[in-house]
Amino acid sequence: MIPVCSVDELPVGESIRITADVPVAIFNADGEIYAIDDTCSHQDASLADGFLEGCFVECPLHAALFDLRTGMPSCLPAKKPVRTHPVFVEDGTIYVHVAAQPVVQPAGQPEFALSQESVA
Ligand code: FES
Repeated sequence: MIPVCSVDELPVGESIRITADVPVAIFNADGEIYAIDDTCSHQDASLADGFLEGCFVECPLHAALFDLRTGMPSCLPAKKPVRTHPVFVEDGTIYVHVAAQPVVQPAGQPEFALSQESVA
């Protein structure tokens, strides 16, 4: 587990980028903390610099939306998911466990899901 920052240092609607084996973006989406690979699966853009919309982050370069809960893109141009990483809070500190596994496309899933259920 990697300590990221205190909960107070990541207010609602904000993000932070850390460098582990790969860059990881950590978000506070309406009080829920999520961590995903920071680099967009489309091209080289930092998702920590993107725009939060509910549980989705919009890539700042070409506006693909990624679901913070699953890492799946919900619109083009991104077609492949980014990894999600387990996060927990203990004694006011946010920790992330950077997943070692490669990005895996769920069986039977299209390359991207068209649902934008949480985007409002
Ligand atoms: S770099 Fe993210 S959508 Fe193109």
